[in-house]
Amino acid sequence: MCKYIVNGGNKIEGRLNIRGAKNSILPIMAATILNENKSIIHNVPNISDVYIMIKILESIGCRVDYEDDTLIIDSSNINSGEIDEVYVRQMRSSIIIMGAMIGRLDYTKISYPGGCAIGSRPIDLHLKALKELGIKIEEENGYIKCFKDNLKGAIINLEFPSVGATENAILAAAKANGRTIIYNAAREPEIEDLAKFLNSMGAKISGAGTSCIEIEGVKRLNEVEYDVIPDRIAIGTYMIASAITGGTLEVDKVVHDHMEPICDKLRLAGCYIKYTKEGLILKAPEKIKAIDLVKTHPHPGFPTDMQAQLMTLMTLSDGVSVFYETIFENRFMHCAELIRMGANIKHITENICMVKGVEKLHSASVKSPDLRGGASLVLASLVAEGKTEISDIYHIERGYENFENILRNLGADIVKLKDK
Ligand code: EPZ
Repeated sequence: MCKYIVNGGNKIEGRLNIRGAKNSILPIMAATILNENKSIIHNVPNISDVYIMIKILESIGCRVDYEDDTLIIDSSNINSGEIDEVYVRQMRSSIIIMGAMIGRLDYTKISYPGGCAIGSRPIDLHLKALKELGIKIEEENGYIKCFKDNLKGAIINLEFPSVGATENAILAAAKANGRTIIYNAAREPEIEDLAKFLNSMGAKISGAGTSCIEIEGVKRLNEVEYDVIPDRIAIGTYMIASAITGGTLEVDKVVHDHMEPICDKLRLAGCYIKYTKEGLILKAPEKIKAIDLVKTHPHPGFPTDMQAQLMTLMTLSDGVSVFYETIFENRFMHCAELIRMGANIKHITENICMVKGVEKLHSASVKSPDLRGGASLVLASLVAEGKTEISDIYHIERGYENFENILRNLGADIVKLKDK
């Protein structure tokens, strides 16, 4: 187990160029099962979740090469329909492989993904969508077995615009007989990226990025070469690192409209943000302004994956901010750790809390509770007085490539040590 040691007080500033989005590359890697061919994917982030997905693909017979930022996946010979439980336990989002597997094979078996730190993470909407596509599903002893005899297009109404359920439905419907329409689909940019990837293989998907997605099933999908979109959440995290330490950050490559829900809040906090041709520049505020209400929403609302990081910024604001987490039931675990660093946070209910800005944060030994909560603690340590120790950083390394080196190159005094 490793930990970060951070001496706070340095400005985080300079140029940032980071690789593709974790929440894009994972469903895209699952989609490579569908073309029974070679897929070349560029701009792949070097994060632990990618390695878990590589192991899953290799466990069913895919050949995978990963060099620099390029993945080459050959799915010509799939020799198993069963996904070992160990992988799903390590990464619950591997459930999105189910839709691709049943889109390709007549049978697949995968273990129920348990919950995780931030919530119970049910998959009822995933299973309902697959059933509507004609897939027979048996659930027993913690496993899900899918049987396909006639995968047919369907009308799918999602009660909630679930990202994962939308992805599983798209993956299963890409090669179904006939047309599928998904109503109340998730609109996240990563859904658009998945659809673009599949269309590059020859799929016929329209409406991705809107709440109504149409998929015309096709018989075959071909080999593909593709670039993954930039990671809007990782970029937003580094933007807050500069905003909270008084720095100026230039990000080389962003998709402007993917960043808007995050930039909107950072402007309210007093940041100056200008889009450049391909990227953006952020200048930190003299004094961080309190944002009255931060409520998380499905895209294009404010993303739940940025809630913890923005809360860290608000701990040093000039007023009071109310945070309302509407997506996950347990996504405030970073609060207790931030309080240990001197933040003034009060829980109103289990998903509403009030943050009153303080003059400064101080160092402490803190534990990373989950991926984004851990990132929020590193952000706090960059501005806290003294030496902060952040343990359980394996959570953070799931979604942030080269985190400590990128921060160090931007001015942070941060080292990664083996925990005793
Ligand atoms: C994806 O998770 C992301 N993960 C999450 O990012 C992100 O927070 C989330 O979407 C929301 O944007 C990946 O893409 C790998 P959901 P997912 O299905 O698909 C409920 C990060 O930090 N729900 O949209 O699991 C569920 O309980 C991670 O990078 C059901 O009730 O999210 C939750 O409350 C964390 N039934 C809400 O919907 C279902 O069948 C949102 O879940 C499915 C979901």
